[in-house]
Amino acid sequence: MRSIGEETDIVAKEMYTLEDKSGDSLTLRPEGTASVCRAYIEHGMHTLSQPVKLYYYASIFRYERPQAGRYREHHQFGVEALGEADPALDAEVIDMAWQFYVNLGLSGLVLNLNSIGCNICRPAYLNSLKEYYSGYQESLCPDCRRRLVKNTLRLLDCKKTACVPIAERAPRSTDSLCGECAGHFEQLKKYLGILALPYTVNHRLVRGLDYYTKTVFEIAPEGEDVAQATVGAGGRYDNLIEQLGGKPTPAIGFATGIERLVLNLKKQKVHIPGTAPAKVFMACLGQSAKDEAVRLASEMRRSGINVILAFGGRSLKSQLKQANSSGARYAVIIGEDEIKSGSVLFRDLDKAEQRNIHLDEVITTVKRL
Ligand code: HAM
Repeated sequence: MRSIGEETDIVAKEMYTLEDKSGDSLTLRPEGTASVCRAYIEHGMHTLSQPVKLYYYASIFRYERPQAGRYREHHQFGVEALGEADPALDAEVIDMAWQFYVNLGLSGLVLNLNSIGCNICRPAYLNSLKEYYSGYQESLCPDCRRRLVKNTLRLLDCKKTACVPIAERAPRSTDSLCGECAGHFEQLKKYLGILALPYTVNHRLVRGLDYYTKTVFEIAPEGEDVAQATVGAGGRYDNLIEQLGGKPTPAIGFATGIERLVLNLKKQKVHIPGTAPAKVFMACLGQSAKDEAVRLASEMRRSGINVILAFGGRSLKSQLKQANSSGARYAVIIGEDEIKSGSVLFRDLDKAEQRNIHLDEVITTVKRL
């Protein structure tokens, strides 16, 4: 509540808070950044070389209205870089997020960027927003009338038809930045230019968590102006660690919703490579052959070869049928006779050729081939 902000939707409407049997109040994690900051403080990470770069993959819970791309339990992959104020780090984190999507094969994404200032310049900006919006009270949706009093910044990202044109014409945070924040934002835009990242400065981008300072950004499929389209988002939170009891520590990070990624990969029909089939199928006939097969399969796996071992006591014909459909390239066939002579039958399933090789040569043969 302290870190995300009591008046945010996430805290005010969406937290799963319950009492356990001892009467302790528990809350299912509604995001990952505050937890990472807590860990940074608790484990004295300010003594490490800065910035400290961390990542997480976590289930996240928010009591939202479930719909496509918006779930009450979802998963986030996120990164946080703590202990550095340089705008080059902002550019590095944004570039990392962007390259992550590009490497997954997603296209048609847009990068929305804004700077919402700091404790020095934001109060005056909020006052000018309040002044502007108080002239429109009658036209605002009920949520926005409440925001006008309790969470002014969030007026800007209301998606209601009545509120959008009012927000469009509202004063812009980037026009109220102090010298330090303005310089930081200019530098960041310069770096994004150097990296050839196509960004759009969107003055209505303010984010749903109160801890942000300076840089905020979101990455979403082009042309989808709905909140549940955003695949990833983040920003700077230079006061959060201090607010949670640590030393003043600037930081920036981002998180991506795994379900949103999957949704977009499907929508864009991105080909997902399957896992490679096992290289070797191990067939055996008789118990002493099976004993040897169990041993050899494990030895092969320890040396890095993927092996499928035939289970049960099926006929050789049925095992070879399974070998062919498994996608394995080679079959190693061990029978009672082979055990006696210390050899195996080594079959190339593609070429339908086979020969006897010594047991000790199986691994080197597979590796050589
Ligand atoms: P967030 O924008 O609230 O930011 O969530 C990050 C991402 O999680 C969203 O862009 C979206 O892809 C996904 N997401 C959010 N809510 C849902 C939901 N109900 N169902 C499915 N996916 C969802 C944060 O949580 C910040 N902690 C990000 C951050 C990291 N800022 C700095 N560092």
